[in-house]
Amino acid sequence: MKRVEGKVALVTGGASGIGLSAATLMAKEGAKVVIADFNVEGAKEAAENIKKQGGEATAVFLDAGKEDSIKAAVDFTVENYGTITVLFNNVGSTNLQKDLDVVNIDLEEWDRLMNINTKSVLLGSRFAIPHMIKAGGGSIINTASMAAFAGDSLRSAYGASKAAVVNLTRYIAAQYGKENIRCNAVAPGLILTPAAKQSMPEAVLDIFSKFNALPYHGEADDIGYTVLFLASDESKFITGQTIQVEGGHYMGNPSIADFNEFMEQSRSK
Ligand SMILES: NC(=O)c1ccc[n+]([C@@H]2O[C@H](COP(=O)([O-])OP(=O)(O)OC[C@H]3O[C@@H](n4cnc5c(N)ncnc54)[C@H](O)[C@@H]3O)[C@@H](O)[C@H]2O)c1
Repeated sequence: MKRVEGKVALVTGGASGIGLSAATLMAKEGAKVVIADFNVEGAKEAAENIKKQGGEATAVFLDAGKEDSIKAAVDFTVENYGTITVLFNNVGSTNLQKDLDVVNIDLEEWDRLMNINTKSVLLGSRFAIPHMIKAGGGSIINTASMAAFAGDSLRSAYGASKAAVVNLTRYIAAQYGKENIRCNAVAPGLILTPAAKQSMPEAVLDIFSKFNALPYHGEADDIGYTVLFLASDESKFITGQTIQVEGGHYMGNPSIADFNEFMEQSRSK
């Protein structure tokens, strides 16, 4: 038996990066997968690739900023595959130009990010949960971020919106646990998705390397495998949790890299 055999999964933002990895891995492990994305051509291509590898997938347009569109993606999943038992609320947005410090942040951008990053999780869950109850249970997985757990100089809205995702995850888990619905989140650190690779200057990647405990960067599959686990019954006693997948970047004394440098310099004197 494959790890998510018989499950029906809707993956938002599934045409690229983390969503694409999770969709591909879940299909490989037996789930029927709906890939929902703004980039519907990319979603169709991803579904075709999954089919070529012997999996089952289809694509649908999604604008995660719009309630009607989220409802339509859930309805499409149920019409196509009879139910929905896994929901990966993965779409998220960020904007380094407008999402600034608290004094200077563009307030329209604050509202946009709260809508796309947080409200889309609420709405996806709201529309999927009645179907999951009918099916006897389900697993909801949300993409948070390590930005939920630390303050930063910029991206106030992104951090606040992802922190809200972490606690909304607990609320959903608390409210629907008795209906056999689990809800967990994954909090990625820097993950070298195609978009991240393109936008990150080498110097920024070096900063991440310096503070990671591990000697490499995260990849989309590092999150994809965590989502697969949370979607599967292997994690059946885990709910309300946010799993941090971040290479040990945030777990230690923040000054450890500088202390190591200091010790090295002292030794070489
Ligand atoms: N990559 C990282 O380093 C990282 C770190 C922490 C958290 N995250 C979170 O992971 C999630 C996925 O990020 P990624 O790095 O895989 O990004 P990505 O850009 O590779 O993929 C995102 C996908 O979502 C789609 N999308 C974007 N906005 C949409 C919308 N409004 N409606 C429908 N589809 C939309 C895009 O078309 C794209 O296919 C996001 O929630 C992001 O905040 C990423």
